Amino acid sequence: MHRSATLAMAAAALLLSACGSKAEDPVEQIVVRQPGSAAAPGATAASAANDPVTAGKVAFATCAACHAVEPGNASGSGPGLHGVVGRAAGSVAGFAYSEAMAKSGITWTAGELDAFLANPAGKVPGTAMVAGQVSDPERRAAIIAYLASLKD
Ligand code: HEC
Repeated sequence: MHRSATLAMAAAALLLSACGSKAEDPVEQIVVRQPGSAAAPGATAASAANDPVTAGKVAFATCAACHAVEPGNASGSGPGLHGVVGRAAGSVAGFAYSEAMAKSGITWTAGELDAFLANPAGKVPGTAMVAGQVSDPERRAAIIAYLASLKD
């Protein structure tokens, strides 16, 4: 009786100390990893460093509302982006591009994609892509690495 009560108290003390350290750790990590920046979640930044393609796939979630990436390039609000790296701008058959994009003369190299994603309307004035600007260069690089991986 006495012995099991002691064990129960010891277990409770262990649980309490475990809870205590769990509550403290994340706060410490946020402060150390993200000084003065609330924008990029730590997990995304960490995986971007390890594997840009995986990080880019995660970051592409903001594009996926408008862009499909499967072979065949079915289009939604935006043209399909399978194999877009190396492709001529405005060339997915059946997609109603803006005149600006159709006549841009761009070939989507990594550099051109970087400029377009940094400032879509700056790169292609008159583009119909009104969302999807990515201000973080590391995030753009990851998205482009992901797009480059989408080949047949
Ligand atoms: C709100 C919908 C929308 C979002 C979100 C969006 N786009 Fe677009 N995107 C479009 C539209 C529409 C076009 C066609 C633009 C035109 O014709 O001027 C386009 C065109 C493009 C093109 C040119 C494709 C081609 O065939 O020439 C690329 C590359 C592109 N988007 C990448 C992205 C990426 C990467 C993201 C995410 C960071 C993104 N887009 C987010 C709608 C969107």
